[in-house]
Amino acid sequence: MSEPERLQRILARAGVASRRAAEALITSGRVTVNGAIVQALGTRADPDRDDIRVDGAALPEPGHRVLIALHKPAGYVTTRHDERGRRTVMDLVPAIPGLHPIGRLDFDTTGLLLLTNDGELTLAITHPRHELVKTYLATVAGVPDAKALARLRAGVELEDGWTAPAEASVEERVRGGSIVRLLLHEGRKRQVKRMLAAVGHPVRQLVRISVGPLTLDGLDSGAWREVSVKEVESLRRTLRLPGRPSE
Ligand code: URA
Repeated sequence: MSEPERLQRILARAGVASRRAAEALITSGRVTVNGAIVQALGTRADPDRDDIRVDGAALPEPGHRVLIALHKPAGYVTTRHDERGRRTVMDLVPAIPGLHPIGRLDFDTTGLLLLTNDGELTLAITHPRHELVKTYLATVAGVPDAKALARLRAGVELEDGWTAPAEASVEERVRGGSIVRLLLHEGRKRQVKRMLAAVGHPVRQLVRISVGPLTLDGLDSGAWREVSVKEVESLRRTLRLPGRPSE
């Protein structure tokens, strides 16, 4: 039998919500313990013995593998802990044991960041062999001409070697510059910024809008959602990973 714990902690650990969001769920009367609505924040429960539900749904089983899609805002570091005490992406997602970001987005880059507690999936997604396509929209100074676009498409020489061929196009013109759509099959540090700087168009703003079949659609800045079983299956097919028996 486990020790009774504060309800908000149990909900956060089960991946239902961040600690603060869990408190809001409780105070708004959406959480029940053994059939009774509990709205007091200090309430303790035993996750092994009590029937804890949110909106009528039982908590996920411990050990359940999750994949989370986060719309990362600017001003957050992609790491589990920052020694300098800056805000990290972990502040925006539920406190699930083992949850970690897959790859990274720079402090000032926004957009789709995936997080999981499944090490196998992390390895597969970040492995260059799988060539999972990531789509970026970069607001750059100036408008890349046909020659600059051809260089991006063919591969650009950076200090750590040539980049793989990428898809590149000018999406639209904006004041003083343009928005470039770049599709990359690799994920080196600051790759988009370095590639565009190398062809004479420094990046002013960067957003990642998709990773493989997953997109930012419907996610507001700072919001997250659990990727559905169907989408995980589609991702696993894209990665050519074997299907997983349902858990
Ligand atoms: N490329 C970059 O330059 N920055 C990011 O955050 C992601 C890709």
